[in-house]
Amino acid sequence: MATSNKFLHTFRHLTRATGSGTARTLVPRVTRPIVSAPMNGWSGPNLVAAVANHGGFPIYPIGYYTDPYNILQELKNTTTLIHDVDPPTTPSNTDFLPYAVGFISFWLERQGPELLLAILRGEGDTSSSHKRPPAAYWFSFGDYRPYLALVREHGRPGSKVIVQVNTVQEAVEAQNNKVDVIVVQGTEAGGHGAQKVSPLMTLLPEVVHALHENKTASQVPVVLAAGGISTALQFKAVESMGASGVVIGTGFMLTDESPGPQRAKDRLLKTQDGGVNTVRTRIFDDLREFDWPEGYDGRVVRNLVTEREARYEQAHGPKFNKGEAAFKLLKEDHSGVKADYVKATAEQDYDLLPLWSGTGVGLLKKQISAAAFMDLLLGKEQQ
Ligand SMILES: Cc1cc2nc3c(=O)[nH]c(=O)nc-3n(C[C@H](O)[C@H](O)[C@H](O)COP(=O)(O)O)c2cc1C
Repeated sequence: MATSNKFLHTFRHLTRATGSGTARTLVPRVTRPIVSAPMNGWSGPNLVAAVANHGGFPIYPIGYYTDPYNILQELKNTTTLIHDVDPPTTPSNTDFLPYAVGFISFWLERQGPELLLAILRGEGDTSSSHKRPPAAYWFSFGDYRPYLALVREHGRPGSKVIVQVNTVQEAVEAQNNKVDVIVVQGTEAGGHGAQKVSPLMTLLPEVVHALHENKTASQVPVVLAAGGISTALQFKAVESMGASGVVIGTGFMLTDESPGPQRAKDRLLKTQDGGVNTVRTRIFDDLREFDWPEGYDGRVVRNLVTEREARYEQAHGPKFNKGEAAFKLLKEDHSGVKADYVKATAEQDYDLLPLWSGTGVGLLKKQISAAAFMDLLLGKEQQ
């Protein structure tokens, strides 16, 4: 991969040592412009480490956290799995852990900034003498600006901020706010996103055009593409439209290192024709009672709940928003209650639970290691 790649250039300060003694040299750590998305329940220490160890840049999912202590412990576990991150013998102010932490902005607002501040202080590091923070902070869904300001004020110089956007306007605002990396997420994406959003095919080039208008190259942030990308041809296509790299969610769900349940992975593997067999909905946020702000929904594999929701809405208009009404959809005769959702969760019943997935699921034909998947994306193997 050419070093002119803007994403790789941005993270070239992340190095690892090879050799020992006088033969010890530092080489760039991030060599593949592939980012694994922050996915609650579907990414974790093993996947983050696998992506980092194969030259990618992973985002550890902070998501809907309630216990900051546990997150810091898990970050420490993650660090132990990443190769060549031994703390330097002399403390250095330019040292970072080679991953980002991914926050959901509206959830962070509910919980308060303490966890972010602890991570900025390096409290997710294993080293007792010289604490290193992650290299970057990812924010999606909601107002990231207060947290951007916290990173700029309390973060180690060189800390990067990544923001995921769904519109041209959001992208230009992020550029004006001097965000380092903008992730352009199209409607194809698995998991959450804006309800009103273009396909990546049109959103990405329009964002790239807007970011370059009246700007010099150095004023344009790194642009990454997200949504439905599963293959090397798609990787090349978004690269040709101005992306420096990709953010992949669904593709990494189907890797060995993803902590998602095997029965869910098997179901993903059976899902073809992703535009037909996935759908965007808010119903699962209502069932989980996460109270997502207006304007967002999430793409899932169609199941009994989404079919019943669609049938109901066809007959009566959109009704199943929030509260007890949503639980009714857990039973065919609309007699479902909250206990049915608790039971479905215990039984991992994906006829009733959300199986987040992008439209690119139909292109994913087998479960493989994260490293093998990254090689496929870069066309290092026949697809
Ligand atoms: C299971 C799952 C969980 C996700 N969770 C988050 C999240 O917590 N925060 C976030 O910014 N994006 C989240 N996303 C969206 C990703 O950041 C990314 O935009 C998306 O996965 C890209 O599309 P793809 O899944 O088709 O590759 C999630 C996606 C999936 C599939």
